[in-house]
Amino acid sequence: MAELFNPPAADLPGKPFVEQWVRPSTTKLDIDWAQLRTIELSLLDSPDPKVVQNLVDTCRAAIRDDGFIFLTDYGVSYDQHRSVPPPQHERRRQGTPALEPDESGTFAGWKPRFGWRRDKGAPDGIEHYNYYQPQFESMDKVPTCMHPFWDEILAFCNYLTYSVNRRLLKLLSKVLELPDDWLWDRVQSKNGPVGQGYFRQAMYYPADADVTARGKGTRMNGHCDYGTTTMLFSVPISSLQIWGRDEKWRYVKYNPGALVINIGETLELVSGGHFRATRHRVVDPPEDQLKEERLSIVLFQASEGDLRMEPAYESPLLKREGCIDSQGAYREFKKLREKGMAIPTNRQWREVQIADSHHPTDAAPNDTIVYINGAKHLKREYLGVNILLPA
Ligand SMILES: [Fe+2]
Repeated sequence: MAELFNPPAADLPGKPFVEQWVRPSTTKLDIDWAQLRTIELSLLDSPDPKVVQNLVDTCRAAIRDDGFIFLTDYGVSYDQHRSVPPPQHERRRQGTPALEPDESGTFAGWKPRFGWRRDKGAPDGIEHYNYYQPQFESMDKVPTCMHPFWDEILAFCNYLTYSVNRRLLKLLSKVLELPDDWLWDRVQSKNGPVGQGYFRQAMYYPADADVTARGKGTRMNGHCDYGTTTMLFSVPISSLQIWGRDEKWRYVKYNPGALVINIGETLELVSGGHFRATRHRVVDPPEDQLKEERLSIVLFQASEGDLRMEPAYESPLLKREGCIDSQGAYREFKKLREKGMAIPTNRQWREVQIADSHHPTDAAPNDTIVYINGAKHLKREYLGVNILLPA
């Protein structure tokens, strides 16, 4: 059995008192939620092969159909993931100045509430701090208000990466019928607590009239994640929407204590399209939650940056069923290969997209608007790869 998360004590001498997080109310409105399957990760350790196979089968269907799953019983309790204090709260309390955002295209550091660049843009009401590997190597890159809690942040990220994500990749390797550590050994980046990925503590402040008018209710444009898995803690404020196979946006329902996991493009490529990197976006919550702050805690797990991803042709699943080129990165990378062109490395692919991040209504010279079956989409091109995103 996998060990449960055992965080450092929150009441060690010298640690500031952190007020208990008050859970906002869930929406009372009748919502047509996305229907996601639940994976109870502890069942992977079951001595009964039938139980494990059942879990693999459920996971296969979930990542093929939805690309999103609810992960439960993964070793972090509901109270534990709420105990990690967000810098937004601490900074407000202590008045510690924020760090400036990084300019490297890796998204490290502080994002203030006015756009995605160092130069002040229009307000968007989204504030976050991203901890990349350099933040874990130098406390100078960490907001001072978070220094007393660093042991907790470190333990939390290490557990998510080296326990939860490793077990999750084991399950996904089993779906591909490959050895258990295949994805962990060959694809996942593993240097330090977050590898080449990052840990984010974000706060979405209620949109004021200006933000609402500019974004028309969208806080973050539709996109796919680039890495291996994204681990998002389910929160009571419903703002995440996913793009279903029926081409409709649907909110993801609050599932207390669950991790909302989505498959990144790296795994879509490795799986030959059997895993789906599903488009998702962040929008204003339902009307009865519009005045609430939305705290978002997420760890973006990354693939090894120097790799150029090919389908895992040795997978018995791929040998038996072939690849699936119905959508997304797999299909577009395949087109490049067929033209004899070099496909981007994982690092190139993620950094070019991060560097192009912008607010939904900011001018985006790389975007062309197209309509598919009457639905507005944004067409972009990065490194010779075309991507199409529902707007
Ligand atoms: Fe995302």
